[in-house]
Amino acid sequence: MSINAVKGMNDILPAESGIWQELEQTAREVFQRYGFKEIRVPVVEKTELFCRSIGETTDIVEKEMYTFQDKGGHSLTLRPEGTAPVMRAFAQHKLHASDPINKLYYFGPMFRHERPQKGRYRQFHQIGAEVIGVDDPKIDAQVLAMLVHYFQEVGIDDVALQVNSLGCPECRPEYRKQLVDFIEERLEPLCEDCRRRYKTNPLRVLDCKVPACKEAMDGAPSILDHLCAGCDTHFATVRSHLQVLELDYTVNPRMVRGLDYYTKTTFELLTDRLGAQSAVAAGGRYDGLLKQIGGPDLTGIGFAMGVERLVLLKGDADARQQSPALFIAGLGDEGAGEAFRIMSLLQRRGFFVEMDYQGRSLKAQFRRADKLGAQRVLILGENELAQGVAPLRDMSDGNQQDIPLEDVVERLAAILGESP
Ligand code: HAM
Repeated sequence: MSINAVKGMNDILPAESGIWQELEQTAREVFQRYGFKEIRVPVVEKTELFCRSIGETTDIVEKEMYTFQDKGGHSLTLRPEGTAPVMRAFAQHKLHASDPINKLYYFGPMFRHERPQKGRYRQFHQIGAEVIGVDDPKIDAQVLAMLVHYFQEVGIDDVALQVNSLGCPECRPEYRKQLVDFIEERLEPLCEDCRRRYKTNPLRVLDCKVPACKEAMDGAPSILDHLCAGCDTHFATVRSHLQVLELDYTVNPRMVRGLDYYTKTTFELLTDRLGAQSAVAAGGRYDGLLKQIGGPDLTGIGFAMGVERLVLLKGDADARQQSPALFIAGLGDEGAGEAFRIMSLLQRRGFFVEMDYQGRSLKAQFRRADKLGAQRVLILGENELAQGVAPLRDMSDGNQQDIPLEDVVERLAAILGESP
């Protein structure tokens, strides 16, 4: 019996990997322009890190983590997200000691035991960015500007930005209390999940997707009416900066994030092209998180994008496959040997060159060159080697020119170097 991949975990095959590389490369380029540096953290962390940061009563911690005991009896978890591990690394290595402001980005697989469907997987990938050590609302606006800029650079323009503020430990408890009172009077129609957790995590009821819950929550108190002066000013300032930057957004007071560490600004980039999985990127401020996991009392803000969702939005048609600048059709042992030598030297010079390894006919080799999308084909048979001249065919228009085999690598490098 053949062995397949684990359910909800996907292979990224060569036909797709070009688009992944492009998405990652653009992220590096854009993020670096905003002063971000890459950080790489392990895929596995102590379970306690996620329980303490994401929150015991969240879906992620309650039911979605891949948690196991290692051979030493320690409880470990495959990371369900990147912020907590990055903060753990930040605190552990005291990154604030060398620079009071840290802008970090990361790529990598995350793991959540969710029900797989289009755009939702058990192993998925995030591209994330975090800024630690800046309280100024300008940084909130700048992080959002960078995110929107990234989407423009990768050519995804039909996404909508929603923002909200979730308050802070000063103002949220009072809001929570009012929300619990509101929910208590409408418990009957709520789904089982909401009825179970409205006391422990009442904000989640606000964005439950079950229609009956949505209806019951109509007219619920808004967090924005309960912000303390500090949070209110912060949110107003973020919004005025967004206006200065001419970023389109809407305020959604019912936006609640699935992770407990958020404070003040939160946001999501939404699409209507992925069915129920509407968030392509999401994030916010998490001012108490570092301290909560034993680090310094520094504020943070960041986001993560789901790479699979970006790929779905970009569409397969866009996948840019690289094609060889030259295919060398070597005929007979001698021709193939010379093809191999020339190919290797040109590759070392930085050109994408291919050949046939199976000693096939000229016609078959042309078919192969065509399939690979080679721009040119050099034909090297016995005659060509004897005469010291080989035809080079341009595959786009069929034109042919004779290339003297003396200094052939130099001559070809000059021709390929001129290609667009
Ligand atoms: P999150 O909203 O849980 O936030 O995930 C961020 C993004 O990851 C989502 O918007 C979505 O695109 C993608 N995503 C999440 N779960 C899945 C899944 N099962 N399958 C496919 N894609 C998925 C966080 O993870 C926070 N750490 C973001 C953040 C960074 N907040 C501050 N800094």
